[in-house]
Amino acid sequence: MKKAYAGLGLVLVVMVLVFALGSFFRENWAASQTPGVLERFLVRWVLSSARQTGAEIKNPLLPTEENLREGREFYEQQCVFCHGLDGRGQRPDGIQFYPPVPSLVERDNELTDGQRHFIVSNGIRYTAMPSFVKVLAPEQIWKVILWLRHLSDQGQFPAGPRTSEK
Ligand code: HEC
Repeated sequence: MKKAYAGLGLVLVVMVLVFALGSFFRENWAASQTPGVLERFLVRWVLSSARQTGAEIKNPLLPTEENLREGREFYEQQCVFCHGLDGRGQRPDGIQFYPPVPSLVERDNELTDGQRHFIVSNGIRYTAMPSFVKVLAPEQIWKVILWLRHLSDQGQFPAGPRTSEK
């Protein structure tokens, strides 16, 4: 058993070394470029664990007009710069991040409201996704999530006045 752990540890160390040396020799840390297969695989695997927590927790708020209005306001103040006004994430002709900014309004986005709440509260380390725990109250985050559901139900950005234009 110990041997198996040691073997696994060795494989991990070698993978990390290959990854670090690869990046070092390429001297390429550009966020505008997609990294190689190994780096993409490792990053995706590591970051997937950031999305697991809170899946069972339900949104305690209802999508009333008032809640949606506030959720939209918070979203447009705090999230639009990266996720876009329509929630569709990074665009090919906009600012570029790696890992890229995902769409929050795809219907096949399988994250539950609880997972989203956890991610928005805590952020995701080593990515551009910030923690809003000191900026938005838990209830305000639930409202933002209501707004995101509303956007994806609409399937497109709805008409109406916007609190910010970008
Ligand atoms: C500075 C840029 C930035 C801002 C501002 C930002 N995000 Fe993000 N967000 C990201 C990036 C980048 C990721 C992907 C991180 C990763 O690959 O693990 C992300 C991931 C997420 C995810 C996980 C989505 C998925 O499909 O995995 C959610 C939910 C999310 N953001 C919601 C929000 C909300 C709500 C706000 C505003 C309160 C916000 N974000 C503000 C950059 C940002």
